[in-house]
Amino acid sequence: MFHPDESHGFGELNRKSEKARRLSRSAVGLARLPTNCHALFNRSVLSADMYRRLQPMKGDQMASSTCVSGEAAVLRATLPTNIANRPITIIGAGTLGRRIALMMCTQGGEVRLYDTGDKARDAGVSFVKDGLAELVPRVRNGRAGAILGFSDLAAALGGAWLVIESVPEIPALKRKVLGELDSLCDADAIITSNSSSFPSSELIDEVKHPERLLTSHFYMPPRVTPVELMTCGKTDPAVIDMLMAEFAKYGVVPFKVHQESVGLIFNRVWAAIKRESLYVVAQGISTPEDLDSIYKLILGADVGPFRTMDQVGLDVVLAIEEHYATLRPGLPEESRDLLKGYIAKGWLGIKSGRGFYDDYKDHPNPA
Ligand SMILES: NC(=O)c1ccc[n+]([C@@H]2O[C@H](COP(=O)([O-])OP(=O)(O)OC[C@H]3O[C@@H](n4cnc5c(N)ncnc54)[C@H](O)[C@@H]3O)[C@@H](O)[C@H]2O)c1
Repeated sequence: MFHPDESHGFGELNRKSEKARRLSRSAVGLARLPTNCHALFNRSVLSADMYRRLQPMKGDQMASSTCVSGEAAVLRATLPTNIANRPITIIGAGTLGRRIALMMCTQGGEVRLYDTGDKARDAGVSFVKDGLAELVPRVRNGRAGAILGFSDLAAALGGAWLVIESVPEIPALKRKVLGELDSLCDADAIITSNSSSFPSSELIDEVKHPERLLTSHFYMPPRVTPVELMTCGKTDPAVIDMLMAEFAKYGVVPFKVHQESVGLIFNRVWAAIKRESLYVVAQGISTPEDLDSIYKLILGADVGPFRTMDQVGLDVVLAIEEHYATLRPGLPEESRDLLKGYIAKGWLGIKSGRGFYDDYKDHPNPA
């Protein structure tokens, strides 16, 4: 049976990275030491591996960022320090970027939202400002932070300890943007991609320091709170551990993806639901409204697949599905054709005012 990991040679890659991981656990720690790491370990916030990495550096350990052990070379990132006083920068202020910015703004810090489009950037900043009052009391120890819009990339990145890329799901664009982020942001900054369907290993051609880069895939916060963290194949495991601990403070629920996987964890399941729902409607068997109703009644869900696709954006749904189609020959074309028909009319979902549903004037933001 087809398995997407095998199509990318990820099976082999995973075996190699598992070996490298095992070797790295016996290797020396190279990161800087946050003052409270012992307390964090006692509270089980840090993994044993990360705890070891955070022990004080000695002499020659400080000189190197690569640890060679046996046949494997493990790239080590310098973990960012003083993060409470440093901003978080989000690249792309669209459907997801502004939602990620909102969540990152719940711990009192500065959040910067960069977008090449003035309209999207301003709308993103307003979205965060409007959402904070309701969200902050729901987040443990929540404190409203400051949201700032940026049109200059270098200025947006300066000092940031975490940079989250959320530009459109176009691999060439993401490769270029991630390369720029890698060259412009602070040496110890962590860079993540929000890509839904491209593993970050496919997006790092122009990245010189992949050890500090990974996928952090948010769903639809603040309503849908999971965020899945996945290696780019070269990510320092300590970086993932650090974000597992940090993201949990921001009203989202982090999950580690244990191997590279096209579609991460839940998106693979969700892709199958979307595809078959589209196929059912494309074949004239049901309507978006009826399918959503039956789905909600049977599964007890608040929202059905078509309403959710409207919220995601039909162009985004199509881009993701096109990618799966290249990996899994034989997927029904009718599902994509149905999407293309709506997109050709300019009906992209909520963001264009109409998608499968046309009632968004009454309910502009059902999330
Ligand atoms: N929409 C969803 O429900 C959803 C869910 C999970 C993950 N994602 C992922 O999030 C990412 C963004 O998706 P989206 O739905 O928010 O897209 P979107 O089209 O709504 O927003 C993308 C934003 O990026 C901006 N942009 C384009 N080029 C840029 C550049 N070079 N630098 C900075 N900004 C730039 C655009 O102006 C736009 O505002 C994609 O990788 C997608 O797979 C989306």
